Amino acid sequence: MNDEFAKKAEAPSDHESPMAWSGRFASGPVDGLMSFSRSVAVDGRLWSVDIEGSRAHVGALEKAGVVSPDEASSLRDALTQVAEEFTTSQFDFLDADEDIHMAIERRLTEIVGDLGRKIHAGRSRNDQVALDLRLYLLREARELAVAVLGLGETLVDRAAETGSSLLPGYTHLQRAQPVLVAHHLLAHVWPLIRDVGRLRDATSRAEISPLGAGALAGTSIPIDPEFAAAELGMSGQFDNSMDAVADRDFVAEYLFAMALIQVHLSRLAEEIVIWATDEFNFVSLSDEWSTGSSMMPQKKNPDVAELVRGRTGRVVGNLVNLLVVLKGLPLAYNRDLQEDKEPVFDSISVVKESAIALTGLMATLEFNFAPMEQAAAAGYSAATDLAEELVMAGVPFREAHRLVGELVFKLEQEQRGLEAVTRDELSELHPALSSIDENRLRPSSVAAARVTPGGTAPAAVENQMSKAQGAIADMYRWAQGPPASDAQ
Ligand code: ARG
Repeated sequence: MNDEFAKKAEAPSDHESPMAWSGRFASGPVDGLMSFSRSVAVDGRLWSVDIEGSRAHVGALEKAGVVSPDEASSLRDALTQVAEEFTTSQFDFLDADEDIHMAIERRLTEIVGDLGRKIHAGRSRNDQVALDLRLYLLREARELAVAVLGLGETLVDRAAETGSSLLPGYTHLQRAQPVLVAHHLLAHVWPLIRDVGRLRDATSRAEISPLGAGALAGTSIPIDPEFAAAELGMSGQFDNSMDAVADRDFVAEYLFAMALIQVHLSRLAEEIVIWATDEFNFVSLSDEWSTGSSMMPQKKNPDVAELVRGRTGRVVGNLVNLLVVLKGLPLAYNRDLQEDKEPVFDSISVVKESAIALTGLMATLEFNFAPMEQAAAAGYSAATDLAEELVMAGVPFREAHRLVGELVFKLEQEQRGLEAVTRDELSELHPALSSIDENRLRPSSVAAARVTPGGTAPAAVENQMSKAQGAIADMYRWAQGPPASDAQ
């Protein structure tokens, strides 16, 4: 491309440019410039929202008397035809189509003749593209929410199957205290519910129509921004036309929401990778959702989880990409903003596919309860409970902590577990322990003792599970409900 630029710069062409903006140019662009600037390969997917936005704009032009009702209806028919051409893959892009907006306007004009040349009155591609991207993301956010909720629902269903089975809860990846398997799974559900909440919140701010902002300063044609917003089912209009065309907060917000979703998926994926090792053996992956090794015949690998984890770099990178594009941009529109689309489109597909793949993985894996329960019983995981028994008998916690710590130290030297401690040893540790229930230090009792709301006792988990189901149902109502203006 550099060579082409160089050649052209030496011998500028004087052919008539096919570009819509060629009026003030003595020559067309150098060879290669168009392919450098062209964005249809990326923004082509905005065709349907672009047509939707144009319909609203035609309505506003009709109301302003710029086009007659007959002309408006011819333009609407032509827009329908263009939409059909896209749906049936009949739409042909030409080399001169700089972006999706110009391609559609060019085709519209081919269909209705000169009337097509009226549609851009009072509008710039600057407000047009900002509108298109908003409409597109509003729609995609809901679809993405459904995929994320599908994973949340699957985790709740799997949690419900596990009853009061236990596994060790970890801190520092060291066994800490036994928890219900259901409690652990539900701990991955709440972040997903908050993630969908973030998509919904971002949606409430994205529902603003920039139509009427023109290139940056508004338009002298009396089109009513509120009318266009209402036509599009968007909740509001802009307050400042320069902000309307320069603002990409909504893209950044969705990119952040998606980056955090992917981080949450990645944390779950990481646990599955660990749980599926022979060392842990907490889960067995289904054949349908695992892959083999080209060399080692015995291998069954958690590639799905690893790909989810690995693609997180891309999704976080996409957020950083946009923030760097925005940093230092003077008001109002700058062509840099064309670079907002690739990262956001990429994040949408990675996050959606990751959520769907993890749903398949989680729905089909098998829990290996025996190794989980065994691990839950090991590692002195009842030590805190022993200390808390002392606290309830009036011993200051620090003192209780020291006493139990010393007991663990001794048991470790003797290679004995806490379950092997005799009642005599306990009474020796502190007289208050002479009457301790003999089952008190069993993992199931340890878990059952955590009855506070949000704790891991079976009844508390049961309660938590129905709260999670309610929250997921609420979020589904938003994601699958009417598209606009109901975000809060
Ligand atoms: N394709 C551009 C974008 O995505 C919109 C075109 C605006 N071009 C211009 N010269 N003002 O941002």
